[in-house]
Amino acid sequence: MSQTLKAVRGTRDLLPPETALWNRIEATARDVFARYNFGEIRTPVFEDTALFARGVGEETDIVSKEMYTWSDGERFDEKKMIAEWIARNKSNDPGRVQPDRINVQGNPPFLAKLNALGVQLQVYRGIQQGPHLAGVAELVSFRPVLSTDAVSALVKARELAKSDQLSQLQQIPIKLRLVVPTSAPLNPWVVPGDVNVEQFEGQFFASSQSLTLRPENTAGVVRAYIEHGLGESGQLQKLFYIGPQFRRERPQKGRYRQFSQIGAEVLGPPSSGSESPLRDAEILEMLATLLDELGITGWTLELNSVGSLADRARYNEVLRTALDSVVLGMCQDCQRRAVTNPLRVLDCKVPADQPIIETLPVIADSLDEASRAHFAQVTAALDAAQVPYTLNHRLVRGLDYYTRTTFEFTHGGLGAQNALLGGGRYDGLSEAIGGPKAPGIGFAMGEDRLVLSLLAAQDQKAAPLKADAFIAPLGETLNPAALVLARELRHKGLWIELGEGSFRLKKSFEAAEKTAGRIVILGEDELQSGILTVKTFATGIQTKVPRAELAAFLAEPAKG
Ligand code: HAM
Repeated sequence: MSQTLKAVRGTRDLLPPETALWNRIEATARDVFARYNFGEIRTPVFEDTALFARGVGEETDIVSKEMYTWSDGERFDEKKMIAEWIARNKSNDPGRVQPDRINVQGNPPFLAKLNALGVQLQVYRGIQQGPHLAGVAELVSFRPVLSTDAVSALVKARELAKSDQLSQLQQIPIKLRLVVPTSAPLNPWVVPGDVNVEQFEGQFFASSQSLTLRPENTAGVVRAYIEHGLGESGQLQKLFYIGPQFRRERPQKGRYRQFSQIGAEVLGPPSSGSESPLRDAEILEMLATLLDELGITGWTLELNSVGSLADRARYNEVLRTALDSVVLGMCQDCQRRAVTNPLRVLDCKVPADQPIIETLPVIADSLDEASRAHFAQVTAALDAAQVPYTLNHRLVRGLDYYTRTTFEFTHGGLGAQNALLGGGRYDGLSEAIGGPKAPGIGFAMGEDRLVLSLLAAQDQKAAPLKADAFIAPLGETLNPAALVLARELRHKGLWIELGEGSFRLKKSFEAAEKTAGRIVILGEDELQSGILTVKTFATGIQTKVPRAELAAFLAEPAKG
C-alpha cells in the first residue's frame, strides 16, 4: 500500500468553519484599509534571492537560516538557437538550406502536429514544380541535449509527413536532422540511426537564477514600487497586501513555515511627505482601530526608535566596543554577530545571554538630534490620538532595513509567539535595492496569530455557520423539483442546503439539523398544493407556508 501523504511539516489546511473567521478578518482589514485610502498590491510569492539578501540583510535570521531558496535551472533558449542557425545557414546555394523556402506555409495543421513532436523546422532543398515538390526535404529539431526522445520525435515526424494527407512531403525523400548546442551533454546510449546530429556552436542557455519564496513582503513591495516607477507621480503610495509568506522556522503554536500576513506600506519620494512622523503615527493609530474593529482587546504597543542609518552605524560601533569585553561569555551566534552586525546581538533569545545584554548601551543614547525630534513627534501625535504605547529600548526588530520608528503589537493570549504584528520605518531600503530615495513605513500582522487570539478570546472553536434552510425532497422523483425550489430561494439571497430524495425522512432531519436552521419538506402534496411544511429547529414548531411567502419566512432569524 502506498504511504498516505500529509501536509508538509509547518504547513496546514484551513477548513470551515475556521475559514469563515479568516474571511471576516480579511473583510474587516480591507474595510479599514479603504477608509485610510490604501490600495491593494499583489506581488509574486517568489522573488530573486538577492532582493532579500540586500533588502532584509544577510546577517538576519530570516535570510541566513530561514529562507526557502532554490536554483532555477538553466533554461534552454530555443528561439535564439533557431534564429542563429537560420542566419548562419542562409545561402543562395541551392545545395544549402534555404529557410525562405521552408515548405510549411499554407499547412498550419500539419505544422502544429510537427511542433507538438518538437520538430520546429521543415526545410526543403530542391525544386518546387507547380504545387509539387521534387528533391529532398529535411525535418529539423532543436534540442538542448541529444536524447532518445529527441531522436524518436524526429522519426515520428517523418512517419507523420509520409502519412499525413495534407503534407506535400509524401512523395519525396526526407532527411532528419537534430541540432544540439555544442556544450550540451550527449547521452552516450543514444544511437541516432539515420538522424543526422549537428553540434551547433553558441551560447543558448540563459544562466540559472537563485529564487526564494518570500519570507516577508516589504522588500517585494519596494521592488515593485521601483520597477513600476510608482514614485514618479510624486504622490505618497499607500499599499496593502494579504498573502502567504514562508520561513523555515521550528514549527510550534503560532509559528508556521507557511503563514499569512496582512500588511501595509506607505512610501514615496521625500517631497510626498513620506518621512513625516505623522505617517508613523497614522499607521499606528490605524492599527489600533483595526485591532479594535477585529475585536482584539488587551494588546500592547511597544515602541522604539533605531535612528537613522548614521545613528545605527554609530550605535553599532558603541555596541562593538561594549561587546569586546563580554562577548566571549556569550553564545556562538552572538560572538559572530559582534563582528558582523552587533545590533543583531539584541535579537538573541539564549537565556544565559540576557543578563549581559541588559548591561549593553541602549540605542536611544546614540540618536542624533533629528532622530530624537522625529521620535518625539511620533509619540506626541500618539498621545494626542490617545493610542497607548510603552517604550522598549531593546526593540530593534529582526530585519536590517529598519530606521527610526520600530514597533510591535503583542497579545497575552498568544503564548511564546506573542508578537501579533511588527513594523517600522525603512528610509534606506529603496536605495539598498537600487532604487531612488523613497522613505517609508509599514507593518505586517500575522493572520494565523490573529485567528488564534480571537479564538482564545472567545474561548471556543469558530462556530459552524448554518444555512437558512435544508430542502428535503420526499423521494427521488422530487429531486428536480427540489433543485428548482433551491434555485428560487438562492436567487433571493438565502443560504440553502439541498438534500436528497433517496434519504428516509429521519435521515433528512438529522442532516438538516446539523447544517441548517430549518427544514423544508417537499413531497408530492406540497408540490401540487404550493404549501410547504417548514420546521424551525430552535423552536420545534412546524408551519405551513405558501411557496410565495417562503423566502420571507426563511429570512426571519430562527430563534429559540
Ligand atoms: P516580522 O516581524 O518578521 O515583520 O513579521 C510580522 C508578523 O508576521 C509577526 O509579528 C508575526 O505575527 C507574523 N509571523 C512572522 N513569522 C511567522 C511565522 N513563522 N508563523 C506565523 N506568523 C509569523 C515583517 O515581516 C515585516 N515585513 C513587517 C514590516 C512591514 N515592516 C515594515 N513594513
